[in-house]
Amino acid sequence: MKLDIRPLHDIFAAEIHGLDFSRPVGELPMDEIRAVSARYGVLILRNDRPPTDQQHVAFSKALGPIEANKLIKVAGVDRVRLNVPGLIDVGNLDPDNNILKPDSRQMAFRRGDRLWHTDMSFNQNRATWSLLAGHEIPPQGGETEFVDMRHAFEQLPKEMQTMLEQLTVEHSVWYSRQLGGYDKPTPEEIESSPGARHKLVHVHAPSGRKTLYLASHASHIIGWPLDLGRGLIRELAAFATQPQFIFRHTWRLGDVVMWDNLATMHRATEFEDTLYKRDMRRTTCREHPLPAQFAA
Ligand code: OGA
Ligand code: MN
Repeated sequence: MKLDIRPLHDIFAAEIHGLDFSRPVGELPMDEIRAVSARYGVLILRNDRPPTDQQHVAFSKALGPIEANKLIKVAGVDRVRLNVPGLIDVGNLDPDNNILKPDSRQMAFRRGDRLWHTDMSFNQNRATWSLLAGHEIPPQGGETEFVDMRHAFEQLPKEMQTMLEQLTVEHSVWYSRQLGGYDKPTPEEIESSPGARHKLVHVHAPSGRKTLYLASHASHIIGWPLDLGRGLIRELAAFATQPQFIFRHTWRLGDVVMWDNLATMHRATEFEDTLYKRDMRRTTCREHPLPAQFAA
Protein backbone atom coordinates (compact mmCIF):
# COMPACT_ATOMS: atom_id res chain seq x y z
CA MET A 1 0.00 0.00 0.00
CA LYS A 2 1.54 3.30 -1.08
CA LEU A 3 0.68 6.25 1.14
CA ASP A 4 0.36 9.70 -0.40
CA ILE A 5 1.42 12.25 2.26
CA ARG A 6 0.71 15.99 1.85
CA PRO A 7 1.71 18.56 4.51
CA LEU A 8 -1.14 20.94 5.40
CA HIS A 9 0.47 23.64 7.55
CA ASP A 10 3.92 25.29 8.04
CA ILE A 11 4.38 23.74 11.48
CA PHE A 12 2.63 20.35 11.55
CA ALA A 13 -0.37 18.32 10.23
CA ALA A 14 -0.52 16.25 7.06
CA GLU A 15 -3.14 14.62 4.90
CA ILE A 16 -2.82 10.98 3.88
CA HIS A 17 -4.58 9.42 0.94
CA GLY A 18 -4.59 5.74 0.14
CA LEU A 19 -5.00 4.14 3.57
CA ASP A 20 -7.66 1.50 2.95
CA PHE A 21 -9.39 0.56 6.21
CA SER A 22 -11.15 -2.35 4.55
CA ARG A 23 -7.84 -4.24 4.33
CA PRO A 24 -6.82 -6.50 7.22
CA VAL A 25 -4.85 -4.50 9.80
CA GLY A 26 -1.87 -6.83 9.29
CA GLU A 27 -1.56 -5.48 5.74
CA LEU A 28 -1.61 -1.81 6.73
CA PRO A 29 1.72 0.10 6.90
CA MET A 30 1.57 0.76 10.66
CA ASP A 31 5.31 1.57 11.01
CA GLU A 32 5.09 4.21 8.32
CA ILE A 33 1.96 5.69 9.90
CA ARG A 34 3.70 5.90 13.27
CA ALA A 35 6.72 7.59 11.66
CA VAL A 36 4.60 10.14 9.78
CA SER A 37 2.61 10.80 12.96
CA ALA A 38 5.83 11.38 14.94
CA ARG A 39 6.75 14.16 12.51
CA TYR A 40 3.33 15.76 11.88
CA GLY A 41 1.34 15.16 15.12
CA VAL A 42 -2.00 15.36 13.30
CA LEU A 43 -2.89 13.14 10.33
CA ILE A 44 -6.02 13.51 8.22
CA LEU A 45 -6.75 10.08 6.76
CA ARG A 46 -8.97 10.77 3.75
CA ASN A 47 -11.44 8.21 2.48
CA ASP A 48 -14.74 8.24 0.61
CA ARG A 49 -16.59 6.66 3.48
CA PRO A 50 -15.86 6.25 7.19
CA PRO A 51 -14.42 2.94 8.40
CA THR A 52 -16.91 0.58 9.96
CA ASP A 53 -16.89 0.73 13.76
CA GLN A 54 -15.08 -2.63 13.78
CA GLN A 55 -12.40 -1.44 11.32
CA HIS A 56 -11.99 1.74 13.35
CA VAL A 57 -11.43 -0.19 16.58
CA ALA A 58 -9.13 -2.79 14.95
CA PHE A 59 -6.90 -0.10 13.43
CA SER A 60 -6.70 1.73 16.77
CA LYS A 61 -5.80 -1.45 18.66
CA ALA A 62 -2.87 -1.91 16.28
CA LEU A 63 -1.55 1.45 17.57
CA GLY A 64 -2.01 0.83 21.28
CA PRO A 65 -4.23 -0.42 24.09
CA ILE A 66 -7.74 1.02 24.24
CA GLU A 67 -10.35 1.07 26.94
CA ALA A 68 -13.44 -1.11 26.43
CA ASN A 69 -15.90 1.48 27.54
CA LYS A 70 -15.72 5.04 28.63
CA LEU A 71 -15.79 4.92 32.37
CA ILE A 72 -16.74 8.51 33.05
CA LYS A 73 -20.20 8.64 34.46
CA VAL A 74 -22.44 11.48 33.33
CA ALA A 75 -25.43 11.60 35.68
CA GLY A 76 -28.72 10.53 34.09
CA VAL A 77 -27.15 8.71 31.13
CA ASP A 78 -28.08 5.03 31.29
CA ARG A 79 -28.16 4.02 27.64
CA VAL A 80 -25.53 4.46 24.93
CA ARG A 81 -25.91 4.96 21.18
CA LEU A 82 -22.83 3.05 20.07
CA ASN A 83 -22.46 -0.34 21.63
CA VAL A 84 -19.01 -1.20 20.30
CA PRO A 85 -16.33 -1.73 22.96
CA GLY A 86 -13.65 0.92 22.57
CA LEU A 87 -15.72 3.39 20.59
CA ILE A 88 -16.56 6.71 22.25
CA ASP A 89 -19.57 8.70 21.07
CA VAL A 90 -18.62 12.37 20.68
CA GLY A 91 -21.51 13.44 18.46
CA ASN A 92 -24.65 15.34 19.48
CA LEU A 93 -27.05 12.40 19.19
CA ASP A 94 -29.06 10.37 21.69
CA PRO A 95 -29.46 6.54 21.60
CA ASP A 96 -32.35 6.93 19.12
CA ASN A 97 -30.22 9.07 16.79
CA ASN A 98 -32.09 12.25 17.63
CA ILE A 99 -30.28 15.49 18.43
CA LEU A 100 -29.64 15.83 22.17
CA LYS A 101 -31.84 18.21 24.10
CA PRO A 102 -30.17 21.65 24.29
CA ASP A 103 -30.30 21.71 28.10
CA SER A 104 -29.24 18.07 28.64
CA ARG A 105 -26.26 17.25 30.80
CA GLN A 106 -24.77 15.27 27.90
CA MET A 107 -24.93 18.25 25.55
CA ALA A 108 -23.23 20.40 28.19
CA PHE A 109 -20.56 17.71 28.63
CA ARG A 110 -19.87 17.63 24.86
CA ARG A 111 -19.67 21.40 24.63
CA GLY A 112 -16.70 21.16 26.99
CA ASP A 113 -14.73 19.90 23.94
CA ARG A 114 -14.80 23.47 22.63
CA LEU A 115 -12.06 24.44 25.09
CA TRP A 116 -8.47 23.69 24.06
CA HIS A 117 -7.48 20.32 25.47
CA THR A 118 -5.70 17.07 25.00
CA ASP A 119 -7.77 13.93 25.54
CA MET A 120 -7.82 12.13 28.88
CA SER A 121 -5.07 14.10 30.59
CA PHE A 122 -7.22 13.56 33.70
CA ASN A 123 -6.17 9.90 33.64
CA GLN A 124 -2.87 8.74 35.07
CA ASN A 125 -2.51 6.38 32.07
CA ARG A 126 -2.32 9.08 29.44
CA ALA A 127 -3.84 9.00 25.97
CA THR A 128 -1.48 8.61 23.03
CA TRP A 129 -3.47 8.74 19.77
CA SER A 130 -7.09 9.65 19.33
CA LEU A 131 -8.80 8.65 16.11
CA LEU A 132 -11.97 10.55 15.27
CA ALA A 133 -14.18 9.44 12.39
CA GLY A 134 -16.78 11.67 10.75
CA HIS A 135 -20.00 9.73 10.06
CA GLU A 136 -22.31 12.73 9.62
CA ILE A 137 -21.02 16.27 9.15
CA PRO A 138 -23.08 19.45 9.65
CA PRO A 139 -23.33 21.67 6.55
CA GLN A 140 -21.40 24.43 8.25
CA GLY A 141 -19.26 24.91 11.37
CA GLY A 142 -17.99 22.10 13.56
CA GLU A 143 -14.40 22.27 12.34
CA THR A 144 -11.71 20.90 14.66
CA GLU A 145 -8.64 23.00 15.49
CA PHE A 146 -5.19 21.78 16.48
CA VAL A 147 -1.85 23.13 17.72
CA ASP A 148 1.56 21.45 18.06
CA MET A 149 2.71 21.75 21.68
CA ARG A 150 6.31 20.82 20.82
CA HIS A 151 6.48 23.87 18.61
CA ALA A 152 4.90 26.01 21.35
CA PHE A 153 7.50 24.83 23.88
CA GLU A 154 10.36 25.48 21.45
CA GLN A 155 9.17 29.08 20.95
CA LEU A 156 9.42 29.91 24.68
CA PRO A 157 12.48 31.68 26.13
CA LYS A 158 15.12 29.31 27.52
CA GLU A 159 14.72 30.46 31.18
CA MET A 160 10.98 29.95 30.95
CA GLN A 161 11.49 26.45 29.55
CA THR A 162 13.81 25.56 32.43
CA MET A 163 11.35 26.87 35.02
CA LEU A 164 8.42 25.00 33.45
CA GLU A 165 10.35 21.73 33.43
CA GLN A 166 10.22 21.71 37.24
CA LEU A 167 6.41 21.85 37.45
CA THR A 168 3.68 19.26 37.96
CA VAL A 169 0.02 19.88 37.13
CA GLU A 170 -3.22 18.43 38.50
CA HIS A 171 -5.80 17.58 35.82
CA SER A 172 -9.53 16.96 36.33
CA VAL A 173 -12.29 16.47 33.78
CA TRP A 174 -14.76 18.14 36.14
CA TYR A 175 -12.63 21.26 36.28
CA SER A 176 -12.74 21.65 32.48
CA ARG A 177 -16.43 20.76 32.29
CA GLN A 178 -17.29 23.47 34.78
CA LEU A 179 -15.21 25.98 32.80
CA GLY A 180 -17.43 25.00 29.87
CA GLY A 181 -20.68 25.59 31.77
CA TYR A 182 -21.40 22.08 33.09
CA ASP A 183 -23.04 21.86 36.52
CA LYS A 184 -21.20 20.90 39.68
CA PRO A 185 -20.26 17.19 39.42
CA THR A 186 -22.14 14.68 41.56
CA PRO A 187 -20.14 12.50 44.02
CA GLU A 188 -20.72 9.54 41.68
CA GLU A 189 -19.33 11.48 38.73
CA ILE A 190 -16.25 12.49 40.70
CA GLU A 191 -15.66 8.93 41.81
CA SER A 192 -15.76 7.75 38.18
CA SER A 193 -12.94 10.13 37.25
CA PRO A 194 -10.94 11.43 40.22
CA GLY A 195 -8.14 13.22 38.29
CA ALA A 196 -4.39 12.81 37.78
CA ARG A 197 -1.01 14.57 38.03
CA HIS A 198 1.48 15.00 35.18
CA LYS A 199 4.70 16.90 34.51
CA LEU A 200 4.04 20.12 32.60
CA VAL A 201 6.94 19.35 30.23
CA HIS A 202 7.84 15.92 28.93
CA VAL A 203 9.84 14.39 26.12
CA HIS A 204 7.56 13.21 23.31
CA ALA A 205 9.13 9.78 22.78
CA PRO A 206 8.24 9.23 19.08
CA SER A 207 9.97 12.49 18.00
CA GLY A 208 12.44 13.00 20.88
CA ARG A 209 11.25 16.62 21.20
CA LYS A 210 10.30 18.29 24.47
CA THR A 211 6.69 19.40 24.66
CA LEU A 212 4.17 21.13 26.91
CA TYR A 213 1.45 18.90 28.31
CA LEU A 214 -1.55 21.12 28.89
CA ALA A 215 -5.31 20.96 28.56
CA SER A 216 -8.45 22.71 29.76
CA HIS A 217 -8.46 19.85 32.29
CA ALA A 218 -5.29 21.37 33.87
CA SER A 219 -6.66 22.70 37.13
CA HIS A 220 -3.62 23.91 39.07
CA ILE A 221 0.11 23.63 39.62
CA ILE A 222 1.17 21.47 42.52
CA GLY A 223 2.69 23.53 45.36
CA TRP A 224 1.64 26.88 43.88
CA PRO A 225 -1.16 29.16 45.09
CA LEU A 226 -4.28 28.30 43.07
CA ASP A 227 -4.64 31.65 41.29
CA LEU A 228 -0.99 31.93 40.38
CA GLY A 229 -0.96 28.42 38.90
CA ARG A 230 -4.17 29.01 36.97
CA GLY A 231 -2.77 32.29 35.67
CA LEU A 232 0.34 30.56 34.33
CA ILE A 233 -1.72 27.73 32.78
CA ARG A 234 -3.95 30.29 31.03
CA GLU A 235 -0.94 32.28 29.81
CA LEU A 236 0.77 29.20 28.38
CA ALA A 237 -2.40 27.97 26.70
CA ALA A 238 -2.90 31.40 25.10
CA PHE A 239 0.72 31.39 23.90
CA ALA A 240 0.37 27.88 22.44
CA THR A 241 -2.85 28.69 20.59
CA GLN A 242 -1.85 31.87 18.73
CA PRO A 243 -3.70 32.08 15.42
CA GLN A 244 -0.61 31.40 13.28
CA PHE A 245 0.06 28.19 15.23
CA ILE A 246 -3.43 26.75 14.54
CA PHE A 247 -4.33 24.15 11.95
CA ARG A 248 -8.09 24.09 11.33
CA HIS A 249 -9.61 20.93 9.90
CA THR A 250 -12.80 21.20 7.86
CA TRP A 251 -14.50 17.81 7.94
CA ARG A 252 -15.53 15.73 4.96
CA LEU A 253 -17.61 12.60 5.31
CA GLY A 254 -15.26 9.65 5.71
CA ASP A 255 -12.33 11.52 7.25
CA VAL A 256 -10.51 9.90 10.12
CA VAL A 257 -8.39 12.37 12.02
CA MET A 258 -5.60 10.82 14.04
CA TRP A 259 -3.81 13.09 16.53
CA ASP A 260 -1.09 12.49 19.07
CA ASN A 261 -2.38 13.71 22.42
CA LEU A 262 1.15 13.76 23.85
CA ALA A 263 2.28 16.40 21.33
CA THR A 264 -0.80 18.48 20.45
CA MET A 265 -3.92 20.20 21.78
CA HIS A 266 -7.25 20.44 19.97
CA ARG A 267 -10.75 21.85 20.29
CA ALA A 268 -14.12 21.48 18.64
CA THR A 269 -15.69 24.64 17.21
CA GLU A 270 -19.24 25.95 17.22
CA PHE A 271 -22.01 24.75 14.96
CA GLU A 272 -25.82 24.77 15.10
CA ASP A 273 -25.84 21.77 17.40
CA THR A 274 -29.56 21.89 18.13
CA LEU A 275 -30.38 21.95 14.40
CA TYR A 276 -27.83 19.71 12.65
CA LYS A 277 -26.61 16.23 13.42
CA ARG A 278 -22.89 15.70 13.91
CA ASP A 279 -22.09 12.02 14.25
CA MET A 280 -18.49 11.65 15.37
CA ARG A 281 -16.96 8.49 16.79
CA ARG A 282 -13.64 8.27 18.55
CA THR A 283 -11.18 5.72 19.80
CA THR A 284 -8.32 6.66 22.10
CA CYS A 285 -5.13 4.67 22.65
CA ARG A 286 -3.23 4.69 25.94
CA GLU A 287 0.42 4.77 26.94
CA HIS A 288 0.10 1.63 29.05
CA PRO A 289 -2.08 -1.48 28.93
CA LEU A 290 -5.32 -1.28 30.90
CA PRO A 291 -6.34 -3.74 33.61
CA ALA A 292 -7.87 -6.78 31.88
CA GLN A 293 -11.43 -5.99 32.94
CA PHE A 294 -11.27 -2.57 31.21
CA ALA A 295 -9.35 -3.46 28.04
CA ALA A 296 -11.08 -3.62 24.65
C1 OGA B 1 -12.65 14.64 20.84
C2 OGA B 1 -12.81 16.06 20.50
C3 OGA B 1 -13.44 17.53 18.72
C4 OGA B 1 -14.51 17.61 17.71
O1 OGA B 1 -13.36 13.81 20.28
O2 OGA B 1 -11.78 14.35 21.65
O3 OGA B 1 -12.31 16.91 21.17
O4 OGA B 1 -14.39 18.47 16.82
N1 OGA B 1 -13.48 16.30 19.38
O5 OGA B 1 -15.47 16.83 17.81
MN1 MN C 1 -10.91 15.86 22.58
